[in-house]
Amino acid sequence: MTEVMTSADAHSDPSADPIMDIIAGATRYKIMMQCIEIGLFDEIESLGETCTAETIAKKCGYDVSVLERLLSTLASYNLLQKDCNRKGMPSYRNSSGTSKYLTRSRRPTMIGLAMSVDAMIHPLLDNLPMLLKSGKPKLDINKNVADNGNILSSSPNHQKTPNNIMDKENNMGPGSPIKQNMSSMPHIPKMPCMPKMPPNSTKMPMEKNGIDYQAKFLMAMEGFSASCASSIVKAFDLSQHRSAVDLGGGPGRISFEMANTYPHMKITVFDLPPVIQVAQKMQQPCSQGQIFFKTGNFFEDEIPSADLYLLGHVIHGFDLKGIDRLLQKVYSKLPPGGSVLVMEKILAENRTEPELAVTNDFVMTLLSQGQERTFSDYQKLFSKHGFVNVQFKHIDGLNYYDVMLLKKPF
Ligand SMILES: C[S@@+](CC[C@H](N)C(=O)[O-])C[C@H]1O[C@@H](n2cnc3c(N)ncnc32)[C@H](O)[C@@H]1O
Repeated sequence: MTEVMTSADAHSDPSADPIMDIIAGATRYKIMMQCIEIGLFDEIESLGETCTAETIAKKCGYDVSVLERLLSTLASYNLLQKDCNRKGMPSYRNSSGTSKYLTRSRRPTMIGLAMSVDAMIHPLLDNLPMLLKSGKPKLDINKNVADNGNILSSSPNHQKTPNNIMDKENNMGPGSPIKQNMSSMPHIPKMPCMPKMPPNSTKMPMEKNGIDYQAKFLMAMEGFSASCASSIVKAFDLSQHRSAVDLGGGPGRISFEMANTYPHMKITVFDLPPVIQVAQKMQQPCSQGQIFFKTGNFFEDEIPSADLYLLGHVIHGFDLKGIDRLLQKVYSKLPPGGSVLVMEKILAENRTEPELAVTNDFVMTLLSQGQERTFSDYQKLFSKHGFVNVQFKHIDGLNYYDVMLLKKPF
């Protein structure tokens, strides 16, 4: 008689589990990226509810047995759902997450975010020995903006951006809500996806092979908040606010969610000109008369008035000098009783979790002079500038945001 071992009888050395998990993760990432690039999830989406390996293989000219094993692998990652009929014939469909975030036909998308890891973070990591020795990022986003106008970020010393150029040229002042069109969303080509950072470069590639890198980067930013924007804007009751300005609002994803949740609120997405130019094209034609775009540099230019300011993934990107300057400006612009909603992933007080925040804190050393902080770090920072009643809500799940609400006293 054959004896069957139960899992309690046999276990590999659990001390190897974290290592195996990371090694397997690298393979998982590569497989997912390749499937995005060849458009496999899009094919499955377009074939309707469920489809067999044979159908996809026939349509795309793939070898059915290799495809069958790839589809099973994707099902084991929960990227696909695999069902078997009564005869045991398997069929596949995109999981709800894949359908929402990894297909080109739907929004919001995490495709840009997934691509940016390979295009930007991995090449920067190749310079780890240099970073460790010099203690300085190879690519300083802030300097990058000052030098070549890259959209990622700009330092307090960045030369003054021509204020409202976009507004004038495109008639997009506060009185002119933008008509958005999904069809103008930047198209993601199948291959290549994003130009990689050249090995020894200190500059982000701007435009290569006809690919608009800035649009891709904005899509990457959108991917950060795609899964949690709705929880972010509902974390606190903000209904008493009439007007909001999303400083460094990037693609405006959080502002659009804010507009859906608080239909009476007028919201301005404020960012550097090249960002606003792309952000306008990426947004849906909803909330006409509610969302406005304004170009400017929040260090140099006047910021629009509001009784609520949003700062999402902005504070963590700058050094203390820049943050102090920005918080002072926001405080002086706010009316008494006004609020600031700060959205950053917060480090636990022991600074060893959550993993995404700890990793991001390290990734910041590759990209900028910024850092992640604990809640008590933030409390000190905000109270130094006169803010009171600092509250914190944790956003559960795998995401890059928690939310803090602070007040200017009456
Ligand atoms: C990491 S992104 C965050 C985008 C968005 N708030 C979010 O949470 O998804 C930071 C944004 O700040 C903008 N930014 C950086 N420096 C700026 C400046 N001096 N003035 C205005 N916007 C700036 C960048 O262009 C970028 O869109």
